[in-house]
Amino acid sequence: MKYKELYNESITNPAEFWKRQANQLKWHKHPKKIITPTETWNNWFEDGKLNMSYLCIDYHIENGRGNDIAIYYDSPVTKSKQKITYTELLYEVGTLADSLLKLGIRKGDTVIIYMPMIPQAIYAMLACARIGAIHSVVFGGFAPNELAIRIDDCKPKLIITASHGIEVDRVIPYKPFVDEAIHLAEHKVDNVIIYNRQNGLEYSMNEIDLDYETLVNDSEVIEAKPVKSTHPLYILYTSGTTGTPKGVIRDTGGYATALKFSMKYVYGVKPGETFWAASDVGWVVGHSFIVYGPLLNGNSTVLFEGKPIRTPDASTFWRIISEYNVVSMFTAPTAIRAIRKEDPLGSFIKQYDLSKLRHQFLAGERCDASTLNWLENQLKIPVIDHWWQTESGWPMLANFAGIDLFSVKPGSAGKPVCGYRIEILNNEGENLGPNEEGLVAVKLPLPPGNLMNLWRNPKRFNASYLNRFPGYYFTGDGGYKDEDGYVFITGRVDDIINVAGHRLSTAEMEEIVASHPKVAECAVFGVHCDIKGQKPLGLIVLSSSFEGDEEEVKKQIIQSVRNKIGAVASFKEVKIVKRLPKTRSGKILRKLLRQIADHQSYKIPSTIDDVTIIKELEQYFVN
Ligand code: COA
Ligand code: AMP
Repeated sequence: MKYKELYNESITNPAEFWKRQANQLKWHKHPKKIITPTETWNNWFEDGKLNMSYLCIDYHIENGRGNDIAIYYDSPVTKSKQKITYTELLYEVGTLADSLLKLGIRKGDTVIIYMPMIPQAIYAMLACARIGAIHSVVFGGFAPNELAIRIDDCKPKLIITASHGIEVDRVIPYKPFVDEAIHLAEHKVDNVIIYNRQNGLEYSMNEIDLDYETLVNDSEVIEAKPVKSTHPLYILYTSGTTGTPKGVIRDTGGYATALKFSMKYVYGVKPGETFWAASDVGWVVGHSFIVYGPLLNGNSTVLFEGKPIRTPDASTFWRIISEYNVVSMFTAPTAIRAIRKEDPLGSFIKQYDLSKLRHQFLAGERCDASTLNWLENQLKIPVIDHWWQTESGWPMLANFAGIDLFSVKPGSAGKPVCGYRIEILNNEGENLGPNEEGLVAVKLPLPPGNLMNLWRNPKRFNASYLNRFPGYYFTGDGGYKDEDGYVFITGRVDDIINVAGHRLSTAEMEEIVASHPKVAECAVFGVHCDIKGQKPLGLIVLSSSFEGDEEEVKKQIIQSVRNKIGAVASFKEVKIVKRLPKTRSGKILRKLLRQIADHQSYKIPSTIDDVTIIKELEQYFVN
């Protein structure tokens, strides 16, 4: 079957199409209702029952694949490797699930997982899924303050963490960070489970703390409990346009169906093959394509605890692909730019047998044509840019490696994936023509797998995604469609930036910068970075009474963003300016600032209150 046929069917007869895809899964109770409209949205497979942990583990064992490798754990930072079979995975997940039950965790309870890239992070996710507990994984690069915000929002009974993580050669003190977050949060958790990685970090145990190994050793493998298709599998926080992150809720049945579909059609991976997404379990890519997608599909997944460079060098990606026979790989363009900088001639690439690798996927940020072309020349296989978001949970634009690959147009993230009617609208919600840049929206209803709502915040859900264009889901991205139907994503149209493929809110950074007592006003926005795509830049106007060391103020501001959001914010640059460009109604002209900082051409907005500031600003960005 060709892409066009498949896509058309998904649009003209979505119920029949997705019923067929859902039939690829083993349900405890097969759904009869396929798509059920709700007040604002729709539910998928509402009367079906299934269990994600069962589908990712037990199902494969029942089909005689218990000895196949489920996880290749590869950790250059600890110089260790481990192969975990599906049978071993069942033991680890089943016993941890039993421990959770013994601690009083029940279906619908929330559990925060704050862990480095170790197998226990995956065990914890699957153990929650096994008993119907809702996990919320928090990325390890976030500071205790961010963890505390998430604790107060999702009110977990339990946190599962590890003693420490390792960032290249630096120890990240996870357990002390959790202690601090618990101290900062208003909500009190009942227990914390700590996986002690040994030989890394001395820490003290509090009254509520429990040792991971001890708990698991006292437990037995329990069976997976079927849950309703609409039961939340997880909450994943992502940056919004205010300081508070949004808790994206994912269902179980729709998500499982969409992931199974993606593994086959988008990524073109067959059960038994190795798939590798070089991301982190703290991001949506980690949820969908390190953990749930590949395991559902019966693949071996790679859990990589390292970086594309410096662990130990730019050869690591190619070593892993060759060592585990990876057939399809997924990473962010940033990682490729970092590798290319270290190894522009691809000398490392030539040292490895990459003959099994069929496709290289890129996503997470805009991919520049130069990076895509370089990689394609090096690997001599299709390099596929594709586009999606935490909210969608799986690709919205792609190229279908699993059926018929249409030619790649550098700069475009491909064509709409089945079920997605992607349109380019102007501010008034009218459709734009080919090559006209506008706002990217998806006509409702959305296919399965997309967010169900925002955790305990339906108002924000409506305001963020549905109210702007009635009848559409608004993605927050800008872009255009060419005459052949390829979509080009040009970037966010809100206060969100993508730094090294990490989604961050400049509004959140701005709130922190503005809270410094010497700052009268400020603006934080994303500027171009050769490696990370974008990086945040802060412009501050000091208060009129300020006297003292300007460099010291800058340092304090940088440190406070790092302390409050975390190192991942990559907030390292502050400039002091005399004033900021504003509209006559007092709104800071951030787009203009970004254009001037990046030396792009710009139009002076007619709403600007004082045009003389432009020359002044240009002076700040001469170099
Ligand atoms: N725990 C603690 N700290 C973390 C962390 C984690 N899990 N992940 C990143 N950090 C820290 C880094 O150590 C760095 O700290 P520093 O400012 O003290 O050096 C900071 O956060 C910024 O990290 P990062 O943006 O990753 O930059 P880097 O210079 O360490 O690495 C790349 C640059 C390009 C190698 C790296 O960003 C990369 O591999 N990117 C791939 C992106 C990716 O996988 N995205 C996921 C979405 S698909
Ligand atoms: P996240 O929710 O962290 O996955 O980030 C989603 C955002 O990343 C999108 O809204 C886009 O702005 C950006 N993004 C992801 N993939 C791509 C891509 N292939 N091209 C351009 N931007 C992308």
